[in-house]
Amino acid sequence: MGLIKELDFGTPIRVAEKTVTLQIDGMSVTVPEGTSVMAAAMHVGTNIPRLCATDMLESFGSCRLCLVEIEGRKGTPASCTTLVEPGMKVSTQTPRLAKLRKGVMELYISDHPLDCLTCAANGDCELQTQAGAVGLRDVRYGYDGANHLQAEKDQSNPYFSFDPAKCIVCSRCVRACAEVQGTFALTIAGRGFGSHVSPGGVDFMGSECVSCGACVQACPTATLIEKTVIDRGQPEHSEITTCAYCGVGCSFKAEMQGSTVVRMVPFKDGKANEGHSCIKGRFAWGYATHKERMTKPMVRAKITDPWREVSWDEAINHAASEFKRLQATYGRDAVGGITSSRCTNEETFLVQKLVRAGFGNNNVDTCARVCHSPTGYGLAQTFGTSAGTQDFKSVDQTDVILLIGANPTDAHPVFASRMKKRLRQGAKLIVADPRRIDLVKTAHVQADFHLPLLPGTNVALINAIAHVVVTEGLVDEAFVRERCDLQHFENWARFIALEKNAPEATERLTGVPAADVRAAARLFAGAKNGSIYYGLGVTEHSQGSTMVMGMANLAMATGNIGRDGVGVNPLRGQNNVQGSCDMGSFPHELSGYRHISDEATRDMFNHLWGVTLSPDPGLRIPNMFDEAIYGNFKGLYVQGEDIAQSDPNTNHVEKALRAMECVVVQDLFLCETAKFAHVFLPGSSFLEKDGTFTNAERRISRVRQVMPPLAGLADWEVTVKLARALGYEMNYGHPSEIMDEIAALTPTFTGVSFKRIDELGSIQWPCNDKAPLGTPIMHVDHFVRGLGKFMITEFVATDERTGPRFPLILTTGRILSQYNVGAQTRRTDNNQWHPEDMLEIHPFDAESRGIVDGDLVALSSRSGDVALRAKVSERMQPGVVYTTFHHPNSGANVVTTDYSDWATNCPEYKVTAVEVRRSNHRSEWQEQDAADAVSLRRIMTPVMDAAE
Ligand code: SF4
Ligand code: SF4
Ligand code: SF4
Ligand code: FES
Repeated sequence: MGLIKELDFGTPIRVAEKTVTLQIDGMSVTVPEGTSVMAAAMHVGTNIPRLCATDMLESFGSCRLCLVEIEGRKGTPASCTTLVEPGMKVSTQTPRLAKLRKGVMELYISDHPLDCLTCAANGDCELQTQAGAVGLRDVRYGYDGANHLQAEKDQSNPYFSFDPAKCIVCSRCVRACAEVQGTFALTIAGRGFGSHVSPGGVDFMGSECVSCGACVQACPTATLIEKTVIDRGQPEHSEITTCAYCGVGCSFKAEMQGSTVVRMVPFKDGKANEGHSCIKGRFAWGYATHKERMTKPMVRAKITDPWREVSWDEAINHAASEFKRLQATYGRDAVGGITSSRCTNEETFLVQKLVRAGFGNNNVDTCARVCHSPTGYGLAQTFGTSAGTQDFKSVDQTDVILLIGANPTDAHPVFASRMKKRLRQGAKLIVADPRRIDLVKTAHVQADFHLPLLPGTNVALINAIAHVVVTEGLVDEAFVRERCDLQHFENWARFIALEKNAPEATERLTGVPAADVRAAARLFAGAKNGSIYYGLGVTEHSQGSTMVMGMANLAMATGNIGRDGVGVNPLRGQNNVQGSCDMGSFPHELSGYRHISDEATRDMFNHLWGVTLSPDPGLRIPNMFDEAIYGNFKGLYVQGEDIAQSDPNTNHVEKALRAMECVVVQDLFLCETAKFAHVFLPGSSFLEKDGTFTNAERRISRVRQVMPPLAGLADWEVTVKLARALGYEMNYGHPSEIMDEIAALTPTFTGVSFKRIDELGSIQWPCNDKAPLGTPIMHVDHFVRGLGKFMITEFVATDERTGPRFPLILTTGRILSQYNVGAQTRRTDNNQWHPEDMLEIHPFDAESRGIVDGDLVALSSRSGDVALRAKVSERMQPGVVYTTFHHPNSGANVVTTDYSDWATNCPEYKVTAVEVRRSNHRSEWQEQDAADAVSLRRIMTPVMDAAE
């Protein structure tokens, strides 16, 4: 296959009920009202020459290349800025137009380096293409006049180069940064001949630029171009795949030379991102071929031994025989597995199948345990299904956004750009977050309310908002009467109206002024379309599930469910965290969220898998750790999840891992968990395999193999081999066959297949006979559970309390350039933006402790202590400190506690009582961790190599 090129209509596609019919070069065409003449011409196959227009951006009308003639009109209007009208007769090719266009091109080319043959964009340059299209063969003015050819390059960004000598000042980059990304980092500085693109008077790295790549993509010349294209040359072929970072699930074209990636270009037809990207998906893919990628299976008898490289067969047989030995010695339930939210649906499905059918127990869990398990529980209780209600596009129709415990500009950047666009169009924003996140005030966007609540008081706040709705008569009674269980509503309304839930009463808990809560509640309840978006700042609490139900209650009470622009929307963390939950990774649920105790469901699986499944839920991750420390849990298969870094209370996790006799880690790199592993199985990156990911919108998208697995096997193939070695036969020739099995066993997936996804581009589940094209918006006419169920959400303060020893609250989160435990992004140039985790602290707390910006500080809690550098910041409120957890040696989770959500055990990462003091050394744990990291990399020369 060659390079995939999407059509560029020149101006954005319009959707309108009314259509307009006109003639272009004698051909009749009917298009939606509001369409430009340029885009209409594309519908009849006429590509009017253009330079400043592209359909990702509103038309601008500056280059004057796209001129046309229109019968009955004077002059030659620009086709990009002229809208179609009924009966219009347009000519796109006349001698007059040809002469004008050639004249325009001549001016551009006379101030452009004529180095096409050696230019990195040769063959992929719109200026070059258009010069050819208008038939320019020579420039009458010569090339000796004043020009910009000596302008200095800006190479500061590690991923793209800016060469102003090639710039035609078309403003596409400036507009892309404003309209698509919403960062407004670029401007056209100077006037007339001196006009030039400027990232705010500094270089790109020193500017507001967040390296999303939108300007690079928009640039029609080689002015802004990827450094990988400069180094490697133009790509030859491409394949559509899905980003393996966050839950937005952006579609990309992997553009390749052979099996080498040249660049990742966001795909315009990708429904999650519509051609936009962030720094991670666009540029941070080099980890896939990083020199530290592990490509050989390894084993060792003890975790203090050096590794021994072995063949795949030896590693897998050794792992299988160890698991069998452990089960024979300690019982069937002494082993288990953890599925990965970074792996594909098919791989995740196989790991849980291996545990249930191969190990014969239900000791399987997933990293969603530590992020969005309360979402699953809370939304299932109230609405009847464990997933967000909307597609991303829905935000385009919203009027008021309630954003709680989420920081989309860092964690879900492409969706954040879409949200910012809607806010610039006039939608209102309420931010409930302890920190002053970027969306509180950023370029052209300002929240109407920032409710800076104390960590751990979400439920008190949502109850107070609901109290205002109920007591001030703002309930959407018609919706509640028609769609909800009235008995439950009445019980809830009585509870929520109690004085203890009034904003004046909760103010002392949350720290948020009652007047602000009342005003924000009125704003939300009064919206035509009010939507709730939330993240881990909601779920990672001891009352995470209660809070999810609280938000669902609010959405039902205000009638904000079941149409565009509304809903309760979890912003999922990892790329496939929705999928890993859907696939039956939890110990109590089979795929499609069906309880393991349900006999009819088990029968389906028993029949197809040829086993008898245990009806008893297995161990959750924290229970596995506890049982390991008690001596009952001895063996673990972990695929693509670094529990030693990502799970709370690291000392406890490490103790549990040390207590196990066989830990099998399957990963791309020797991760923190590998320090405790006895068998290491090299993993495969998203570029090396076929499969599907499911994003936060329930959208199932294809992951397509673009290079062979570096270690020879894709993750799913390894699981198949391990199952066989355990004595359980698995037989698949391709991941599509695994999806066929998922579809056969899962009612919400019966219409899903690789073929269908390939036809439709992507599918949002449920997809079955009732919804053959999938379901963009859920609960449209009725809730999945029938009637919506209001749940009582009593506020219960966490047991983690501040006091004289630990007077501050630590809360944690992510930063744009890094991702999760950082295993991938730390192995890219993204490190230039965030080389270490810092502790953000309010100036008041810093000053009272004698701390200044950049000081090394000791951060201690009841669980442990670490040392980090301080960043004094007014984004924090006094009494609250914040850090990220992207670098293993920062050890943020050494400090976090064992407290967890009452319903799901999701850890309470967001509330830890701590103290901060100046320090001059790393902590004991950090010293030990550094020493362990060195010993982890000891690999013995393989016996077979030595013999050769
Ligand atoms: S850098 Fe590229 S997109 Fe920006 S003005 Fe110059 S030519 Fe146009
Ligand atoms: S990379 Fe993105 S943020 Fe940076 S200047 Fe370009 S469009 Fe703006
Ligand atoms: S927003 Fe998320 S899915 Fe999209 S490119 Fe960035 S990291 Fe990838
Ligand atoms: S493309 Fe229409 S004026 Fe530039």
